[in-house]
Amino acid sequence: MSPPSMAGSPAQEASAAGATSVFPAGRAEVIDDFDAIARRYDLLTRLNPGYTTHLAWSAQRLHLAPHARILDLCCGTGLSTRALLATYPDAARIVGLDASAGMISHAARAITPRGPRPQMRFVVGDATDPAAVLTGDDAPPFDGILMAYGIRNVPDPDRCLANLLPLLAPGAPICFHEYSVADSALARALWNTVSRTVITPLGVAFTRNLRMWRYLRESVERFDGVTAFEERLRRHGYVDVHTLPMNGWQRGIVHSFLARRPRA
Ligand SMILES: C[S@@+](CC[C@H](N)C(=O)[O-])C[C@H]1O[C@@H](n2cnc3c(N)ncnc32)[C@H](O)[C@@H]1O
Repeated sequence: MSPPSMAGSPAQEASAAGATSVFPAGRAEVIDDFDAIARRYDLLTRLNPGYTTHLAWSAQRLHLAPHARILDLCCGTGLSTRALLATYPDAARIVGLDASAGMISHAARAITPRGPRPQMRFVVGDATDPAAVLTGDDAPPFDGILMAYGIRNVPDPDRCLANLLPLLAPGAPICFHEYSVADSALARALWNTVSRTVITPLGVAFTRNLRMWRYLRESVERFDGVTAFEERLRRHGYVDVHTLPMNGWQRGIVHSFLARRPRA
C-alpha cells in the first residue's frame, strides 16, 4: 500500500518558501496557530460529537460520479479528506490543499487509501488562489470541491469564490461546510454559549492558545448569515445554490452550502 504522494514534503516546500506556512494574503497568525495545534487537532475534534459525521454528510451531498477528481480545500489534518475518501473510494484523484504545512504534514502521514485507491496528493497553498499551486496532474478542472471550515478563514472571500468557480468542470458541484449563525438569534446564542463554556476552555487546556479559540468564536460571529452567503455565491455566478442542515448541537449552526458551476 503506497503512501499518498506529495509534491516533496510540505515541510520541505514550506521551508523552501522561507516560512513554516504559505499564506501570502495576510492573517498569517491564523495559519501559525493551526501549525502549532496540528498535533492536537484530531483529538480535539474527537471530543466534538458529530464532527466527522457532518463532514461525511457534506461529502455525500456532492453526489459525485465514479472516478471523480476531487479538491479538498483547507484540508487541515485530513479529516475532510478522509470523509471524501470514505464516500468516494473509487475517485480518480483527491487533492488536499492547505496553507498550514503543519496541518498538511499530519494529513499526509495519517491518510493511507485502502483497496483500489484514488491518487492522493497534498499541496501547501493559499485557498484564495489554488490555481497558483495546482499544476500538472493536480491542475483543474475538478468534478467536485469540498471546502470544510475554510471560506470563513480566507481574508478575501469574494476573490476566493471568483477563483474557485473556474476550477470546477462545467456543471460540477462545490460544498462549503461552514458555521453560519448571523441569521438566527437562537443559533448565535447557542454558538456563544457552546464556544465560551465548552470549546474555548477545552481548546485552551489542550493547546495553551487562547488567541486561536477567541478567533474561532469571533470569526463565526462575523461570518455571513445563510442568506448573505447564498447571495454571495449567486453574485459570483454559482447556480443551484441551496443549504442543508446538520443535526445535534450544530443544527442551525453548521451547514452544507451547496452550489454548482453553470453547465454552459
Ligand atoms: C478548521 S481547519 C479545517 C480542516 C478540515 N477541512 C476539517 O474539516 O477538519 C481549517 C483549515 O483551514 C486552513 N486555512 C485557513 N486559511 C487558509 C487559506 N487561506 N488557504 C489555505 N488553507 C487555509 C487552516 O490552515 C486549517 O488547516
